[in-house]
Amino acid sequence: MKVDVLLGLQWGDEGKGKVVDVLTPNYDVVVRFQGGPNAGHTLEFEGQKYVLRSIPSGIFQGDKLNVIGNGVVLDPALFKAEAESLEASGHPLKERLHISKKAHLILPTHRILDAAYEAAKGKSKVGTTGKGIGPTYTDKVSRNGLRVGDILHNFEEKYLAAKARHEAILKSLNYEYDITELERTWMEGIEYLKQFHLVDSEHEINNLLKAGKSVLCEGAQGTMLDVDFGSYPFVTSSNTICAGACTGLGVAPNKIGEVYGIMKAYCTRVGAGPFPTELFDETGKRIRDLGHEYGAVTGRERRCGWIDLVALKYAIMINGVTQLIMMKSDVLDDFDTIKACVGYKIGGKEIDYFPYDIKEDDIEPIYVEMPGWKTDMTKYTSENEFPEEFNAYIDFLETELETPIKIISIGPDRDQTIVRYTE
Ligand code: GDP
Ligand code: IMO
Ligand code: MG
Repeated sequence: MKVDVLLGLQWGDEGKGKVVDVLTPNYDVVVRFQGGPNAGHTLEFEGQKYVLRSIPSGIFQGDKLNVIGNGVVLDPALFKAEAESLEASGHPLKERLHISKKAHLILPTHRILDAAYEAAKGKSKVGTTGKGIGPTYTDKVSRNGLRVGDILHNFEEKYLAAKARHEAILKSLNYEYDITELERTWMEGIEYLKQFHLVDSEHEINNLLKAGKSVLCEGAQGTMLDVDFGSYPFVTSSNTICAGACTGLGVAPNKIGEVYGIMKAYCTRVGAGPFPTELFDETGKRIRDLGHEYGAVTGRERRCGWIDLVALKYAIMINGVTQLIMMKSDVLDDFDTIKACVGYKIGGKEIDYFPYDIKEDDIEPIYVEMPGWKTDMTKYTSENEFPEEFNAYIDFLETELETPIKIISIGPDRDQTIVRYTE
């Protein structure tokens, strides 16, 4: 069997959690391969709303196996809070959630370092989620990290050495902090983690594939936040792209099957960094209000703008997307006109490809305008009900992006999902 990968094509928050939950019944296993609790994946069903950070979104559908892969960075304190709240709401997971021993641990001092580095950057700060993501991946790559497997042997010694190293850096940055409470809950998290199946997930996943089991990988963040291909340096610290599933799970490239690319019918971004189609006017505010565009993790306002086909084509190319999923089309249900960016004007020159650098003050989007559909689509159950203008919009997107849009989401609930091209 092959592994299918679902990932965000924009700047995150495309609706990955919702769709992973919808697709889970088609799979035996759901896995996360990168990122950490910087993610906030929202699911809604049966009148309940859940936000997942480190636990895969396949946890609610039956008793499917869910795996946190080696490419993920895990904060034991936040993990404990997330897992306990799921258990309290009637979703036991100790037997169904396996965690890679090779996943790296986010230490309390990583979180403090995240804040200290941001403070030191002043005006050019990234606007991180403050979860210690950058410092943890930095330690991984510089071969100083602690892994989940380390908690099983001589852990205290390793922890204290890492903490001392971080404290020396914090001292050099003149950064004041109080670690007491963070460290206390973190240590409780370490003990809690020991109750889970800590596994060699690369063996487990490959054995499952050999045995004919199907696997769905759940991306976090989005392609434009990828550390190599996103709007660097305003990115996260992992490879959010399809290739990240290979390194983040130990799955070979020739084992990748379908690549689901997920996008909103418009575009949002949280944190700092360039965003060519950002709207600073009433339309942007309207999209934010109608789409409830506030961060699931930090509560921060999301910046909103029109869909950017230049960035999407780039994301489709980098990921090898085989099918598209379009989310939140209902948010545009009442707009007279819908716009889509098909090119950029940079320094007076028009381009239709994603350039090396996008600087906010030197880039002007080129738009195509289409009439809105002015119809409440949130109760629709089949694509046969779609208004003509909506069909024209998705036809246009499919032609421009040269990829079929196979799922359309018309509301946050699990049931507000329309699958197209069903044979
Ligand atoms: P993720 O990080 O990619 O999983 O996305 P988030 O959960 O951060 O953000 C997506 C938000 O949009 C959540 O609040 C979802 O409940 C909501 N959502 C998902 N799909 C739809 C949709 O089709 N329509 C509307 N109106 N909301 C949606
Ligand atoms: P999901 O999985 C949207 C953004 C932060 C910041 C940058 C770096 O829910 O789509 P980090 O804490 O990772 O060092 O922050 O990346 N960011 C996200 N934006 N959705 C996310 O995750 C994000 N995870 C990180 O806002 O700009
Ligand atoms: Mg999110």
